[in-house]
Amino acid sequence: MAMSTSRAASRRTILSAAAGLAAHVWVPRPAKGYTTADVASRLVQAPSGVGLSKWDLDTPALCVDLDRLEQNIATMQAAARRFGIATRPHAKTHRSADIARMQLAAGAIGLCCAKLSEAEALAAQGIDRLCMTTGNLSPTKIRRAMQLRKTSPTFIQAVDNERNARDLSDAAKEAGVTADVVLDVAVGTRSGVPPGEAALRLATLVDGLPGLTLRGLLSYDGGAQHIVGFETRKARTLANIEANAATCAAMKKAGLNTEIFSGGGTGTYNMQHLVPGFTDMQVGSYVFMDMQYLAIGRQDGHPVFDDFASSLTVVATVVNNRFPGRLTTDAGAKALTLNVPRAGVIGEPGADYSASSDEFGVITFKEGPAKTYAMGDRLELIVPHCDPVVNLYDVIYGIRKDRVERVIPVTARGKSQ
Ligand SMILES: Cc1ncc(COP(=O)(O)O)c(C=O)c1O
Repeated sequence: MAMSTSRAASRRTILSAAAGLAAHVWVPRPAKGYTTADVASRLVQAPSGVGLSKWDLDTPALCVDLDRLEQNIATMQAAARRFGIATRPHAKTHRSADIARMQLAAGAIGLCCAKLSEAEALAAQGIDRLCMTTGNLSPTKIRRAMQLRKTSPTFIQAVDNERNARDLSDAAKEAGVTADVVLDVAVGTRSGVPPGEAALRLATLVDGLPGLTLRGLLSYDGGAQHIVGFETRKARTLANIEANAATCAAMKKAGLNTEIFSGGGTGTYNMQHLVPGFTDMQVGSYVFMDMQYLAIGRQDGHPVFDDFASSLTVVATVVNNRFPGRLTTDAGAKALTLNVPRAGVIGEPGADYSASSDEFGVITFKEGPAKTYAMGDRLELIVPHCDPVVNLYDVIYGIRKDRVERVIPVTARGKSQ
């Protein structure tokens, strides 16, 4: 039976859906508190799969369930194949060369980057086929982007204005390269050249500039991704991108290259293929999922968007249990950000988690708690919004069946310029 398509999923429903990750093997005993260095040296001694328990990590610890991560990557690739388009996942979510490699190995045709320093950091770790979805405006950044193009010949740069296109062309010539470029065509009012005449004029200019090769266009609709209810999301997505699809068709008719028509995200992954001329999706959050995405609703009307499994968690420690009806943890805004909806406590659907202190989290209970917590006990949290949380950590612990199997560096942590 179809359920309502427009009601946001309740915290209880979301946490029940994530119950597979629940702390069912949580052992209430003093945890060891191993650091990243401890874990790394243990992993050298012990083959993967027999590593330390995630509950013994020093906290707050960012963890990814590897079975779920691998499944999410496989699920997205299979969906894209079914839809007849490709994936070009956005690395802004994980900022990790290791996870980028997993996505490329599964069949992604490239990776997107939001920031130049992010692209440089990933390229330095051997990741190629990078597409920078944001324009670079300053002379320094333009020069750096063209240097990156020199060392990474598959690098593609977005451009959304004429002055910038001319500057890029000059910098490309100076660097001795011809740079691949895509137009960023706006959907809504964030970045990008407006679709229609202005975009066509820019495409014609880029096509004629000696330092540039036009490869096509990007059209990402950030405002559509978190619309609650599949049918509303789909109607808005397809209506919003109509002018961009018409621009793509007009470019093609004018003999301009449209081999790339890319955009979309996790929330619209199962509707982007309906856009005429669309070639690939820049999906990001699907690898991890988060409280924001779990609430947007599934195609069949179910309120929890669980096409992809919630794989990313923060393990935190209870540091105070002495005040009735509340617990204090060691995971505040510096571990979880202040994004909403608030973090979800796995196994405690009646808990409300406030991360409004820098270093402390405060849990109050509308119902429960389901367990009695001692100081030093561990809790596991689903993060509010994955991208900015990942950026707070040097490493993500790769967990399989509650054991630490690998340490995944956040390669581009803090690379936000
Ligand atoms: C330009 C662009 N493309 C793709 C994405 C990926 O979106 P999502 O994480 O919703 O899959 C983002 C995310 O903000 C983005 O800014």
